[in-house]
Amino acid sequence: MKYLVTGGAGFIGSNFVHYLLQTYPGCTVINLDKLTYAGNLDNLKDIAGDARHHFIQGDITDETLVESMFCEGIDVAVNFAAETHVDRSIGDPAAFIKTDVYGTYVLLEAAKRCGIKKFIQISTDEVYGSIEHGRSSIETDQLLPRNPYSASKAGADRLAYSYYATYGVPVCITRASNNYGPYQYPEKLIPLFVTNLLENKPVPIYGDGRNVRDWLHVMDHCRGIDCVIRNGADGEVYNIGGGNERENIEIVNLMFGHLGKPESLKQYVKDRLGHDRRYSLDSAKLARLGWRPQVEFAAGIRETIDWYVKNRWWWEKLKSGEYWEYYRKQYVDREQK
Ligand code: NAD
Ligand code: TYD
Repeated sequence: MKYLVTGGAGFIGSNFVHYLLQTYPGCTVINLDKLTYAGNLDNLKDIAGDARHHFIQGDITDETLVESMFCEGIDVAVNFAAETHVDRSIGDPAAFIKTDVYGTYVLLEAAKRCGIKKFIQISTDEVYGSIEHGRSSIETDQLLPRNPYSASKAGADRLAYSYYATYGVPVCITRASNNYGPYQYPEKLIPLFVTNLLENKPVPIYGDGRNVRDWLHVMDHCRGIDCVIRNGADGEVYNIGGGNERENIEIVNLMFGHLGKPESLKQYVKDRLGHDRRYSLDSAKLARLGWRPQVEFAAGIRETIDWYVKNRWWWEKLKSGEYWEYYRKQYVDREQK
């Protein structure tokens, strides 16, 4: 089987590349990634030299490049490539619309022209919007995205569906909840807070710290995507939730407890604009295809924290240059609560 993985130098994409090579020894993986600030070849260091993996630095909005790759023959495409950080989308949405929406269109056009066995569009639980109370989102619920990131992802999600409904491209769409695990860029909650704490720096908790996210181990996410590739019906959407809804402050307390850090490093700061209160996924549809999350949450979080403890070489060099420019804009001088 020949896979095209886009965004395979990012957090989830690089874990998925590892997953494919380990799970399917006979597979070939073409990895197309632009290497934005979030793309990192260190995520693929341990498979450098593996002849089954071909890395190509390139942009999914580049029609000529994308079409030539598809027309060389690809069995399955999995589109992870995206701008992914909500806070950055609030400050500067343009790149989100270009990559997440237009880039997805370019990939779908190439799949339509050149043919493919399965096209997986990696969407997100954030497309459902904020689920303040009540039951978890199911795949047929309305989409009510509330920030430029989730709105761009919702656009791509429905565009992918339209290529199935209109042209018969064999598309499946997955909507996963918040992932945690190794190789996550230290702008997202868990790696940002763990690495700040390891440097004895304060952690910026937005609002009252009681927003809820459903946490999914990245390897359970990879297994869920694989299940959809193998068993998913064309044109269908599948939620992939961890079943671990937690308030942010609970996650923060786990990190403080595990690392033995003082309460004085907790800093409550002005809330994110339009901050979604809660995401909540019902994953019964994927469970009917045989998928279950396997990583127990408390153990998974501990292992993840320990991974950042042991791999300072990986994140220390990321916290420099552009990172500090972003960090300064985002956090320095931010009003405290
Ligand atoms: P990430 O930011 O770590 O990685 C994104 C990757 O895409 C990077 O390697 C980057 O270089 C690449 N990229 C960006 N623009 C590109 C372009 N124009 N052309 C080619 N490559 C480009 O993101 P992630 O957390 O690994 O998320 C991967 C996917 O999963 C995204 O589509 C995201 O919306 C979705 N998702 C993420 C989560 C989560 O919790 N992280 C949850 C649900 C869904
Ligand atoms: P994040 O990791 O950015 O994921 P998303 O917003 O896509 O769910 O944030 C997870 C939660 O943590 C979210 O409720 C916002 C909160 N958060 C903070 O409190 N402080 C921070 O510095 C960051 C980055 C996030």
